[in-house]
Amino acid sequence: MRHLMSPLDFSVEELDKLLTLASDIEKNPKKYAHICDDKRLATCFYEPSTRTRLSFEAAMMNLGGKVLGFSSADSSSAAKGESVADTIRVVSCYADICAMRHPKEGAPLVASMYSSIPVINAGDGGHQHPTQTLTDLLTIRSLKGRLNNLTIGLCGDLKFGRTVHSLIEALVRYTGIRFYLISPEELRVPSYIREDVLNRNHVSYTEVERLEEAIPELDILYMTRVQRERFFNEEDYVRMKDFYVLDKAKMELAREDMFVLHPLPRVNEISVEVDNDPRAAYFRQAQYGVYVRMALILTLLEVELPC
Ligand code: CP
Repeated sequence: MRHLMSPLDFSVEELDKLLTLASDIEKNPKKYAHICDDKRLATCFYEPSTRTRLSFEAAMMNLGGKVLGFSSADSSSAAKGESVADTIRVVSCYADICAMRHPKEGAPLVASMYSSIPVINAGDGGHQHPTQTLTDLLTIRSLKGRLNNLTIGLCGDLKFGRTVHSLIEALVRYTGIRFYLISPEELRVPSYIREDVLNRNHVSYTEVERLEEAIPELDILYMTRVQRERFFNEEDYVRMKDFYVLDKAKMELAREDMFVLHPLPRVNEISVEVDNDPRAAYFRQAQYGVYVRMALILTLLEVELPC
């Protein structure tokens, strides 16, 4: 039985296979419409979510399966003090696979140790968000036709943004990747990502504060919001929250074939005036999240695929 805790749980070859399956699902949805008729997905979300939880549920329903779960710690017996270990033992009696989001780093990993069904980390604190990374990889591959030889700008809260940490870890395994890390000093990427991931893999990166400096160089601009829920005090958040606003004027500095991604939710960091720019790909990205989660469910459940 396999779980998904980090994008590195899949080799590059396995990821390639998964993304190819997701693309086939996008092209031939009917082929997969009843493949999980007898399966159930549990969504155990101890932290708020729109996209991840609903796209997991849409993914299982698109496969013919059923869904059950809870959308906040308050509406589960966690509010009475039940441990994650006990909860997953019980959920294992009700479902075939579980997607779990938790504010504590490592909580889905603990769950996987006590589970008799595959557990998917749907975001743990400021640590990892592997299914967002799968979504991002599928989006980039679909839009650019490759995952090699790309210059990628990651902009915003690179300190607390778990999607950024997971994406960097996944992309360093491809050749010819160059990063621009665009953040204010206080929200720089954590030193363990710089030392253990970027430097150790000899990946080229440049840290800059001004988005205008990096944007003309980019194939992909990955915007992120400032993670209010991870700040220790509100004052610091208020000071940082509008540091970057991508607007039409900044988009004029970018290449015609650059795409803008954002894991969403957006707050102020992308002006709505950018939404109609053909290079704004963040809502398409949310759609790719359904296809890739369908592919992931099939892979972890080891479902026999149609020809
Ligand atoms: N991208 C993402 O994780 O969105 P949600 O928090 O709405 O699930």
